[in-house]
Amino acid sequence: MKRIGLLTGGGDAPGLNAVIRSVVRTAETAFGAQVLGIRDGFDGLLAPDGIVPLQASDVVGILGRGGTILGTANRGNPFARQVIRDGQVVVEDVSGDVLAAIHALDLEALIVVGGDGTLHISLELHDKGCPIIGVPKTIDNDIGGTDFSFGFDTALNTAMEALDRLQTTAEAHHRVMVLELMGRNAGYIALHAGLAGGADVILIPEIPFDLGCVAAQITKRTRRGRAFSLVAAAEGAHTSGGEPVYRAPGDGVTYARLGGIGHDVAMAIAEMCGVETRNLVLGHLQRGGSPTAFDRWLGTCFGAAAVHLAAAGSLGRMTALRQGEIVDIGLAEALARPRHISPDNAGLRAARSLGVCLGDGGCL
Ligand code: F6P
Repeated sequence: MKRIGLLTGGGDAPGLNAVIRSVVRTAETAFGAQVLGIRDGFDGLLAPDGIVPLQASDVVGILGRGGTILGTANRGNPFARQVIRDGQVVVEDVSGDVLAAIHALDLEALIVVGGDGTLHISLELHDKGCPIIGVPKTIDNDIGGTDFSFGFDTALNTAMEALDRLQTTAEAHHRVMVLELMGRNAGYIALHAGLAGGADVILIPEIPFDLGCVAAQITKRTRRGRAFSLVAAAEGAHTSGGEPVYRAPGDGVTYARLGGIGHDVAMAIAEMCGVETRNLVLGHLQRGGSPTAFDRWLGTCFGAAAVHLAAAGSLGRMTALRQGEIVDIGLAEALARPRHISPDNAGLRAARSLGVCLGDGGCL
């Protein structure tokens, strides 16, 4: 193996730099191969200064750093790229140019570190002859085929810390605090952080909720006197029969942006229960900062495994963590179904047995 490419695409997640470091060091140490870093996702393949050769000396000290030294883009879909033509914004398919650029680099493999959107683009490019290897990245933990993606653990620890901090102020004022958490249409961050941070109500997209059940749980606690309550609400959570709340619509290039359910739930609780309620959207704090030990470990294992797949010529595959082992799985198989919290999830069972309200009446 002489040369491989590496890019990071989509929203950033803590641990991306651990993958980059691992890929570069494994390629150099184990195979004597060169790594060409591509800046800002697939966009770098079409940019004049988009390719940057990476050596082990370039990745010193980045293991614990958030973000990605390569940059990323979430509007960089080569099959639907927004460009300005004659002063007008138009969406164009530039995948032919991207494929030509990849072939011109004479890569044995292109390692793409990305979430659901980036990996779907990669699969499409792979089907058109591009030598892709995928590495799953997302704080949402919603990629199929792997038990965990890196980034999730750091995000959930940030969310847990936020709940811990909200608890002390909620307790002091006998208030209800609603924390809105990321995760898109998966409730992993809200469920795991909600359990770890002792939330009294956890609302996730997989279980449509009833505001009456949420209010009943809050009132039950408030009746005890001097009570406080914590609500962890996934941004994609919605009422039964209702729709998720969006902050901005999609535009054919990026997803619609979720946001606002925390505010709505807080308003409803204040009105229905007559208690002082405040709302916090944790937002991009969940994506920033230094990765946890688990995310550094997982990123490092995924990066090394991806290079070994490249050396073995195992293209169209994705690295994965399954039952504690690093394995690989076909990209198409991994992407066939997104991961969601199943009804028999251990965390859900624990929440129910603790009397945590999941908004479906199970705790009443
Ligand atoms: O997919 C990761 C994620 O952080 C989601 O949890 C969230 O809905 C979205 O990205 C936010 O995207 P942006 O950074 O474009 O606002």
